[in-house]
Amino acid sequence: MKVNDCPPVWIGPDISEPLNNWLEQAGYTKIWILTDRNSDAFCLDQLINKVPLLAKASLITIEPGEEAKSLASCEKIWDKLTYEGADRKSLLCNLGGGVVSDLGGFAASAFMRGISFIQIPTTLLAMVDATIGGKTGINFSGIKNLIGSFQHASGVFAQTNFLASLHPHEILSGYAEMLKHSLIEGGKHWQSIREMENPTASNLDELLIASIQLKLRITNEDFKESGLREVLNLGHTTAHALESLYFEQKQPLMHGFAVAAGMAIETHLAEHLQTGLQQSEAKQIREYIYQIFPPVKFTPDQINRLIDHMQHDKKNNAGKIRFSLLASIGNARHGFEASTTEIEKALNMYLTDVSHH
Ligand SMILES: NC(=O)c1ccc[n+]([C@@H]2O[C@H](COP(=O)([O-])OP(=O)(O)OC[C@H]3O[C@@H](n4cnc5c(N)ncnc54)[C@H](O)[C@@H]3O)[C@@H](O)[C@H]2O)c1
Ligand SMILES: [Zn+2]
Repeated sequence: MKVNDCPPVWIGPDISEPLNNWLEQAGYTKIWILTDRNSDAFCLDQLINKVPLLAKASLITIEPGEEAKSLASCEKIWDKLTYEGADRKSLLCNLGGGVVSDLGGFAASAFMRGISFIQIPTTLLAMVDATIGGKTGINFSGIKNLIGSFQHASGVFAQTNFLASLHPHEILSGYAEMLKHSLIEGGKHWQSIREMENPTASNLDELLIASIQLKLRITNEDFKESGLREVLNLGHTTAHALESLYFEQKQPLMHGFAVAAGMAIETHLAEHLQTGLQQSEAKQIREYIYQIFPPVKFTPDQINRLIDHMQHDKKNNAGKIRFSLLASIGNARHGFEASTTEIEKALNMYLTDVSHH
């Protein structure tokens, strides 16, 4: 089904028909498909078997993983496009997870001052988050997403069948962003999420639609992140600090697991700061998170380090630590500042919570 007009966003188990129609009508001179080795192995054949115009496309394949979101990969893409004769009417199709969509979106947005690109997300996170809202980018000088652009894709085609080959951890990680969207929206959306006891590749289609719609609504209203869009950072100030801590210790941590823990910790913070979030709502949220997601462990003596990481987050001005928090379920607000004592208290409360789970 089509969930947005401009740019068109399609979602369904099989998007080949709208994609075919759209490509036929658009009339690009030449098409390139960007994949990583996994989306190449698991999704590419399925796609080109049903979309004849893509069968003739030229392929660019990168290694899987965050390291590929680099200037070196951009050069590889730009080399290929140049060498194979791309022009202003060429199209780049990004078939893959958030790494492919961020990288390909950025590479296309800068090539010849911008050629068209479409997103065909193959991970849950890319479907509900990375391909929606027009942010593209690469990592640079060790800093995530330092170089990038705001540039809408010409279309987003989310084929949910592609989720079948994902590792269950990847599903759960993307699901954390869906939970976040439901807390921002509240109401029925949050109720349906609460009823979901075991998110898998095959039972999320309806929730996916709600999630994409919510992200579209917010990013359409505030495309360049001048305010409202910041509510999408719910759980993320804490999540980024947890990710930095784990990174330092060379331990893996899925982004969504960090976001889920971050949202739980930040409900404690919201209570301390009296944002309006009721204790009963805060508890409901935490209980659901602890039921679905694994705890993200740290020790009490790592709390200071976590706070250091928050202070160095690029989103902060002048050392103040800023959070997007819930004033209630369905009412997220941005721009809360918290003292280190309050943050410390919230982190300690999380440690107490997860020691029982
Ligand atoms: N632009 C935005 O607004 C935005 C928002 C959120 C995240 N992001 C970015 O997205 C990236 C993370 O995205 P991600 O979680 O999709 O990571 P990813 O692209 O690295 O994909 C995760 C893993 O799944 C593999 N994979 C992809 N599709 C598959 C499939 N169908 N079957 C089996 N394996 C498959 C990939 O090869 C990779 O190993 C980060 O770089 C993040 O910064 C961007
Ligand atoms: Zn996130």
